[in-house]
Amino acid sequence: MDLDQPVCLCFRVSRRKLEKFIRLEKPQRAGQLSECFGAGTGCGWCRPFLERLFQEQAEKVGGANAPQDPLVISHDDYVRQRAAYLRDGGGDSPPDTSPDGD
Ligand code: FES
Repeated sequence: MDLDQPVCLCFRVSRRKLEKFIRLEKPQRAGQLSECFGAGTGCGWCRPFLERLFQEQAEKVGGANAPQDPLVISHDDYVRQRAAYLRDGGGDSPPDTSPDGD
């Protein structure tokens, strides 16, 4: 997934914004990523990805060996899987966003 594509589709929070937030604000747990433009506080689809991104960045800061990219998925697949998640009743999309992230 490219840096400028949204990880949180509900609030259009890009990976770049999240990585910068982690680098500058140094959150202690993944849930604090919600302070970055509300990431993860909509339908909930992106929370596992936020956790992986948080872990990856924490390991980088801690000097551990570079882990695998946590978001190895195309944007199109990511959007498609989230639409299926919402269709299956996995969460509610905020009223001002579409389930496909557009
Ligand atoms: S995609 Fe992040 S809360 Fe819905």
